[in-house]
Amino acid sequence: MSLPRVETKNGTKILFVDDKPFYLLSGELHNSSSSTLEYMEPIWDKMQSLHLNSLLFPVTWQQIEPAEGEFHFELVDGLIRQAKEHGMKFGILWFGSWKNAACSYAPDWVKTDLERFPRAEVVKGKSYNEVPFKLFKMRYTTLSAFCDETTRMDARAFAKLCAHLREVDTDHTVVLIQVENETGLLGAARDHSDLADEAFQKKVPQELIEGLLARKDGLVEDVRAALENCQEGTWQEVFGDTADEMLMAYYTAKHIEAVAAAGKAEYPIPMYANCWLVQGGKPGDYPSGGPVYRVMEVYQTVAPSLDWLAPDIYIPQFIDTCEKYTKQGNPLFIPEIALQFRATSRLMYAIGHHHALCFAPFGIEDIGNLADTSLGALVGMDTSDPALKNPLLFDVYARANELLSGLMPVLTEQYGTDNLNALIEEKEDGRTMNFGKVSISAAFGFGEKSITGAGALLAARTEEDEFYLLGYGCMPEFESLDPENPYIEFLSIEEGEFIGGEWVLHRLLNGDEEHVHFGNIPLLLKVKLHRFS
Ligand code: DGJ
Repeated sequence: MSLPRVETKNGTKILFVDDKPFYLLSGELHNSSSSTLEYMEPIWDKMQSLHLNSLLFPVTWQQIEPAEGEFHFELVDGLIRQAKEHGMKFGILWFGSWKNAACSYAPDWVKTDLERFPRAEVVKGKSYNEVPFKLFKMRYTTLSAFCDETTRMDARAFAKLCAHLREVDTDHTVVLIQVENETGLLGAARDHSDLADEAFQKKVPQELIEGLLARKDGLVEDVRAALENCQEGTWQEVFGDTADEMLMAYYTAKHIEAVAAAGKAEYPIPMYANCWLVQGGKPGDYPSGGPVYRVMEVYQTVAPSLDWLAPDIYIPQFIDTCEKYTKQGNPLFIPEIALQFRATSRLMYAIGHHHALCFAPFGIEDIGNLADTSLGALVGMDTSDPALKNPLLFDVYARANELLSGLMPVLTEQYGTDNLNALIEEKEDGRTMNFGKVSISAAFGFGEKSITGAGALLAARTEEDEFYLLGYGCMPEFESLDPENPYIEFLSIEEGEFIGGEWVLHRLLNGDEEHVHFGNIPLLLKVKLHRFS
């Protein structure tokens, strides 16, 4: 079997695992869950019964290199063994120099040597600060992105991990790696250390200017305007008001690239970087230099070892975020999203509309455990979102994953084509999708109150008038777009699912049941239509 890889098919990036197209029906675990095998044991069982095919969880610099040059991989080996026993894959989150814009996962020998591994200075001369965060002040420190030694040692540890995976993971249980976690600097738009000041006075590297100009169509307005005005000079001269964030993005992306490239040289599986999104405010209110929408082109230029950039979605603007993160050929990969009742419809929409590579609610082990959901998974979320009060139901999410798992060959076959699309209740405009001579629309607001606002309809066309429809909380409507044959009727409606690659019929719907409506549990139908005059 080949290594897990990314291929471009129909103009879109697709993941291949065990030589087959694959999407991660996944969940990201809480940060500390994968720190021991004992804690993980019951989680695997629960996640397997949720019909996930994969998990995302941290492997940390702190744990694999507790003393300089001494590497420990027993935990990684155990996690691979556990995953295999449960028939699941996983993605590693490399918590190296950054985790949520801080350096809490750097090993002690890094943290305690501030000469060799200097911290960023939010305020000149200070390596430790209080930064405003939501309603309180957060004690904050992080490594400087401008220190070559930090980059070198982070990259060395990561390369060791990747070399170890190459040796032990011959069944490819680890399918991809996230390099660092939510990078950037909080509290100021840029680092004010001497190293950073020196970099700020230099000329903007030509590779960056050229890379941005080559991606001009995607640039945000202020960056494009700055570049049109000036294409050579210091950061301030070229980028004006956006100089601080551009500088931070360039050096942070450089660090991630060095780490990812060192890892890929050992073991070239897919790698990506994730992002703490802009949540209003200015750079520094959100981590400045992380791969936010505003600076994606910087990362695309400077970090070619990253296969994509991924949003962590804790804001209510799900639809808009998906749009933003699919520019410039970036495939949608959602490594973290709020664990709440909309996750089922968002999963269906991400796969159906955006042909996503991964969908992973954060703190997934809390599903069905309301007390923990309200505590753990709310860290850092936009808590003004009323949807957070509505839990994601285990049975609903499990059924969606089960059906999408069986559908994977059918759907990935249509990735990058117009034959796969989805509608979602939270998007109020555009409730119709056209497939050649047939249009399918959805009316929402059905089912119990618990799913109001959370409906979705995914449709995959497999023949001219044949569709698989995966629905939840909606009623589909069909129309002919064919002026020669303006009327439309059902030839057959089969309720069923794919098991072991075969279509298994549960019921042939007709008579009263021909008035299809998708209720409180996701349901899969195979529909044959007939257009006539
Ligand atoms: C985003 C981070 O990437 C995760 O590690 C975790 O801290 C969540 N926030 C908590 O909501």
